[in-house]
Amino acid sequence: MSGVLIDPNPRTFGDGLTVGPIGFGCWRFTQTDNAAAHAVLDTAVDLGMNLVDTADVYGLDWGGTGFGTVEERLGEVLASAPGLRDRIVLATKGGIVPGVPYDSSAAALRSACEASLRRLRVDCIDLYQVHRPDLFTHPSEVATALAALHREGKIRSVGTSNHTPAQHQALASALTEVGIRVATTQVEWSAQRLDPMRDGTFDLAMEEATTVLGWSPLAGGRLTEGVDPSGDQALVDVLDDLADRHGVTRSTIALAFALTPPCRPVILVGTQTPQRLRAATEALGVPLTRTDAYRIIEASEGVPLP
Ligand SMILES: NC(=O)c1ccc[n+]([C@@H]2O[C@H](COP(=O)([O-])OP(=O)(O)OC[C@H]3O[C@@H](n4cnc5c(N)ncnc54)[C@H](OP(=O)(O)O)[C@@H]3O)[C@@H](O)[C@H]2O)c1
Repeated sequence: MSGVLIDPNPRTFGDGLTVGPIGFGCWRFTQTDNAAAHAVLDTAVDLGMNLVDTADVYGLDWGGTGFGTVEERLGEVLASAPGLRDRIVLATKGGIVPGVPYDSSAAALRSACEASLRRLRVDCIDLYQVHRPDLFTHPSEVATALAALHREGKIRSVGTSNHTPAQHQALASALTEVGIRVATTQVEWSAQRLDPMRDGTFDLAMEEATTVLGWSPLAGGRLTEGVDPSGDQALVDVLDDLADRHGVTRSTIALAFALTPPCRPVILVGTQTPQRLRAATEALGVPLTRTDAYRIIEASEGVPLP
């Protein structure tokens, strides 16, 4: 039977953190104007995008002015808006060190996390993620460092980001040894980037009941209307056809597709436009079927399914 695939209900992870199925990504949160930054964050939270995902490195590119500047801006907005902090699940990441480029040694993670707390002007980070695997730190050292930060009340839960399933599992096992259950795994995931469906990421998340956070669900804007598909014409044609049939935009179909897997991912949208944030929520109501989703997969992979 081809039923409707999207579950629009909140997701829970960690020790009872509850978030909407669409989260607000802060990679491009590089506004220099505090009021504009406040307005976009408020809009997102009002729309139920209460998972706010940032990283210490955000601000280094995408129009920012340097490492840490997005966290600083978020910290300013939170400090100027009493009550807002309590309405969000605040997620950040550490472990990228420009010039190294990755360092998740115990000393580096502690120093990154404490610097994030200062910039965000909060006492505790709800979800602390290891941004990219550091190939030269043993998972047990990473786990011990995170466990200490957890014990001290500086982080409430732990996630991985850009880890292969095996890397994630190695860290998850090491975390279990120190009494922490990994809460999330963050990976690139969109109609254009289907790897997590095939490489074991989603399967592992369902097996261990962790929450998948999917980054760049619109492929960084490449799946939106008005954009040259550059090589992905077949995929865009299917998205457009489904958009016509469901009476929505290409972007809405792409976001809806990213919400379909049974692991019930949270998708992290990156638009900084309030009107586009509002439009993104339409994806939750699109009755995409298995047939629709398999058409998208076939178009994306460029080969018919057997
Ligand atoms: N863990 C990691 O390594 C990693 C890496 C990358 C991203 N992320 C996370 O994922 C989040 C989202 O990434 P992303 O910004 O690449 O996501 P995205 O939602 O795939 O792309 C957003 C981009 O598309 C543009 N866009 C154009 N038309 C749009 C439309 N109709 N609707 C919505 N957006 C449209 C937006 O521009 P406007 O702002 O002008 O609307 C924005 O530049 C980041 O903020 C970050 O939290 C994590």
